[in-house]
Amino acid sequence: MAEQAAGVWGAWLAERARVRHRRGLERAARGLPEGALDLASNDYLGLSRHPAVVSAAAEAARLHGAGAGASRVVTGTHPVHEQLEARLCAYTGRRSALVLSSGYAANLGLLGALAAPGTHLVMDAHCHASLVDGARLGRAEVTVVDHGSVQAVAAALQSRVAPRTAVVVESVYSVLGDAAPLAELATLCAGRGALLVVDEAHTLAATPGGCAVAAAGLADAGHVVVTATLSKALGSQGGAVLLGGAGADALREHLVNTSRTFLFDTGLGPPAAGAALAALGLADEDRIARLVARSAQVHDTLAAHPFTSARVERGRGAVHSVRMDSPERAAEAAGRLGEAGVAVGCFRPPSVPDGVSRLRVTAHADHDADVLDHALHQIATTVAEVHA
Ligand SMILES: Cc1ncc(COP(=O)(O)O)c(C=O)c1O
Repeated sequence: MAEQAAGVWGAWLAERARVRHRRGLERAARGLPEGALDLASNDYLGLSRHPAVVSAAAEAARLHGAGAGASRVVTGTHPVHEQLEARLCAYTGRRSALVLSSGYAANLGLLGALAAPGTHLVMDAHCHASLVDGARLGRAEVTVVDHGSVQAVAAALQSRVAPRTAVVVESVYSVLGDAAPLAELATLCAGRGALLVVDEAHTLAATPGGCAVAAAGLADAGHVVVTATLSKALGSQGGAVLLGGAGADALREHLVNTSRTFLFDTGLGPPAAGAALAALGLADEDRIARLVARSAQVHDTLAAHPFTSARVERGRGAVHSVRMDSPERAAEAAGRLGEAGVAVGCFRPPSVPDGVSRLRVTAHADHDADVLDHALHQIATTVAEVHA
């Protein structure tokens, strides 16, 4: 029996590996190559190794333990979680916050809890996998609309009469780095009685003002629900749902009672919560302004370079995409750059919703402008070489 299972599963695994190889879609777990310039990680503000952040993590471990010990509804809520939730509210101008173990868990937990029968979810085609999976977790009706199109959202809202509707977008999309028109979408949703769910994974502490929803004047809009990660600009680990308006407490209560990733997952580790708390104190306007300047340098240099000008997307956030002609060329370019000491991201299906493979170049606040300039020219040259 055991041999039969090994045969069946072994054959299937071998077939899946062959398909991945044929399509140029093999991946491996990897870290930042020793000494490489980091244009690949999401540590936008360089806070993951900041001494104050690291010692806050150690202090939280000393006070509360290395792990939370249980789900947050059993014994896993520690004072550091409550301090972090209060600090997140102060930082973003939202009324109420719920911290979960990752940004992925925040999206899964929120959408799973909203997507009951009778809910219609209208999702942008470029929504992150965690939002897609959250929608799948519930039994809502889902309409996927053209990326970035307010008209398509309006048409989807018009086309269905559902008891409850929520529109799901990202403030800055992780693949193209472009921004959603939050103010327009919020007005549209308000007029239709719909919630607007905004994943701020790429903008919390990474956009002027620290929060895109607040910057759009929506911090206290009750129909706008924010999810975020603590593992990108804040350099830690974890996720959050951030709520505004008079209904904030009722929605938080609903999540505490029904969100599967809040109920059935061990609470965020105290060291990560402590680190995020310290990082929020450091993610000030000066640091964010440095990130914005380096990000503009990445975009402007690649957009002006003859080898990449036709390949860069219209990025608004810290991530910038360079379209490649095939997954193999994307992997080849990322590999060559890694060997040359420049670490860039390599996005291939299924991480790219439109099937176009890309290099992803991520700006960091602490990069030296000259070093970055040199690396950007190396990237442009390598892109040209692999397409020659
Ligand atoms: C848009 C978006 N949402 C959610 C997540 C998940 O966040 P985390 O890494 O904290 O699970 C990511 C991370 O890649 C992301 O890019």
